[in-house]
Amino acid sequence: MNEEQRLSTGQVNTDLANKEEKDYSQYFQTVYTPPSLKKARRRGKEEVSYFDDFEIEERFEGMGNGRKFYIRTYGCQMNEHDTEVMAGIFTALGYEPTTTVDDANIILLNTCAIRENAENKVFGELGHLKPLKQRNPDILIGVCGCMSQQESVVNKILQTYDQVDMVFGTHNIHRLPNIIHEAYMSKEMVLEVWSKEGDIIENLPKKRLGNIKAWVNIMYGCDKFCTYCIVPFTRGKERSRRPEDIIQEVRHLAAQGYQEITLLGQNVNAYGKDFDDLNYRLADLMADLRRIDIPRVRFTTSHPWDFDDELIEVLAKGGNLVEHIHLPVQSGSSSILKIMGRAYTRESYLELVGKIRKAIPNVALTTDIIVGFPNETDEQFEETMTLYEEVGFEMAYTYIYSPRDGTPAEKMKDNIPMEVKKERLQRLNNLVNEYAAEAMKQFEGQVVEVLVEGESKRNDEVLSGYTRKSKLVNFKAPKSVIGKLVNVKITEAKTWSLDGEFLHVVEKDEVLN
Ligand code: 5AD
Ligand code: SF4
Repeated sequence: MNEEQRLSTGQVNTDLANKEEKDYSQYFQTVYTPPSLKKARRRGKEEVSYFDDFEIEERFEGMGNGRKFYIRTYGCQMNEHDTEVMAGIFTALGYEPTTTVDDANIILLNTCAIRENAENKVFGELGHLKPLKQRNPDILIGVCGCMSQQESVVNKILQTYDQVDMVFGTHNIHRLPNIIHEAYMSKEMVLEVWSKEGDIIENLPKKRLGNIKAWVNIMYGCDKFCTYCIVPFTRGKERSRRPEDIIQEVRHLAAQGYQEITLLGQNVNAYGKDFDDLNYRLADLMADLRRIDIPRVRFTTSHPWDFDDELIEVLAKGGNLVEHIHLPVQSGSSSILKIMGRAYTRESYLELVGKIRKAIPNVALTTDIIVGFPNETDEQFEETMTLYEEVGFEMAYTYIYSPRDGTPAEKMKDNIPMEVKKERLQRLNNLVNEYAAEAMKQFEGQVVEVLVEGESKRNDEVLSGYTRKSKLVNFKAPKSVIGKLVNVKITEAKTWSLDGEFLHVVEKDEVLN
């Protein structure tokens, strides 16, 4: 870490910041670090630095003794995993976790910027926290995650949300002890958001939220720059963790008894492209992880762009590599895909699906779809509907396009009324439900392998877990099977879950289905 970075913890005087001016830096000396869109856009100019020397500085030890932290997480699995890292740092500082804001000494909102409604939820929550802060000014409130990486968000917080004590970015998580320390020392807002291409820090502490399933980062950032997407600006450039670090982490998780891992990256298919000393890609990593004694390995999220034949070949070997692939398509229209900057066409996506299906006949495919991209015509939307049917996805996350600050699509003029977009979403969702129900129906009468996660959220008499294809299964069984793989005979399919009868715990060498 260089000296410039070390110095960059900013203290922002909120009285001054409340003024209308856009460039707040004039009020502060050298230590104010707001996000910069211009810098976030840069690629390939900065070297990726690897660090494995993270440690809690002596002066911060015990800082959290007698204090509690609360983190609310919004957004994707990457954010959930970042929360586990921050929880690890808090724990190393002596803080204890709490599940309510009322007895927390520090409250962090780990935010998502993917769509406007994700941001609005956070601003709403900040509003709710204001009375708490007024009652107890000693509480520290922080905003971190993807929203903090955006200039417009940070300016809004500076202007309107003086209950916030600290704002820090996705590249600043390892600086948490220093940031909290600054926030305790000054009564002014601490702002530290680096708009850099990104580092890799290997030895950050983690406090995982479960002991059955675990997230494992394999890469960070994104270089695809889809025209609608904020992620390349909030998460830096594509950079891969070294295979030996990943393999060691997975081995360690297996030894601790974890049953399933999900490899995480904004775009996992680009794994390894950035190694200049090593020819090692996602297929190689999956081949190595196949040999580790952990029952299930998944990955998310895939981009069709870099989905190569070698990967398909290794996935087809099965074993602990599950037969479920989440493959976001976004649109079924080649012309929309082109202006989205997705670098594939309807035809090439279908070709890829054909190849995957040929190699893995019982694969479950799920996807993400955006409707109402600027100027999407009725015909183009219909192409999304027909593509959905042609592939026969088993599930999809569907969204109305939401313009994001600084992205190319934000500047596109859009003449499609919101009403039309909502109708399209409704029609698509009906189709999604229909196909989901159909996919579920096929399991009736079958025996499936379920990783039991715990009591059902709705009924504590019932246990629930997921199949290899990520289907939720509810069944009655002794609580002692929680955390184990079991076989369940499906008795009834609903649209989003399956009911079944517990048969038995799966023996280690039993063939997985
Ligand atoms: N508007 C709507 N949906 C979006 N997504 C990403 N950016 C936007 C946006 N600006 C969706 C994509 C992506 C998923 C995580 O969120 O479908 O795959
Ligand atoms: Fe949201 Fe994307 Fe950030 Fe995840 S990476 S938290 S989805 S903006």
